[in-house]
Amino acid sequence: MKRIAIINGPNLNLLGTREPDKYGTETLDTIRDRILGLASELGVQCAFFQSNVEGELVTAIQQAGALDGIILNAGAYTHTSVAIRDAVAAIATPVVEVHLSNVMAREEFRHISMISAVCKGVISGFGAESYLLALRALCENV
Ligand code: DQA
Repeated sequence: MKRIAIINGPNLNLLGTREPDKYGTETLDTIRDRILGLASELGVQCAFFQSNVEGELVTAIQQAGALDGIILNAGAYTHTSVAIRDAVAAIATPVVEVHLSNVMAREEFRHISMISAVCKGVISGFGAESYLLALRALCENV
């Protein structure tokens, strides 16, 4: 059975109440339940991790390097973190970068991703559905 890690970065623990016009009203727990529903359909195992701390995300990525795939929403660290990029580059496990919002349709500083170039692919702009699309992509293409 494939094992996939879903790693979420800063402020994503506040989903549900955080800027609902941009991120929707679903909480991270609800999104987790939806991912688990699809995972059982696809026959994959999922492990979830969220942190607001950059170094903890680096450690989680390193550890998930032992699994079959990673779905990563690095939040604002997407746009700033060389350490997270290096962690993704250091592992052989494919990583899908996801965003709830369409970052390319937002402020210019969000158009830059430190991690896209070292990821297998990017899914951005489909709300919680971005995670489900990433799970399907990993299951079908990896
Ligand atoms: C985000 C987009 C980022 O620019 C932002 O800093 C986030 C959330 C998204 O899921 O749309 O925290 O990654």
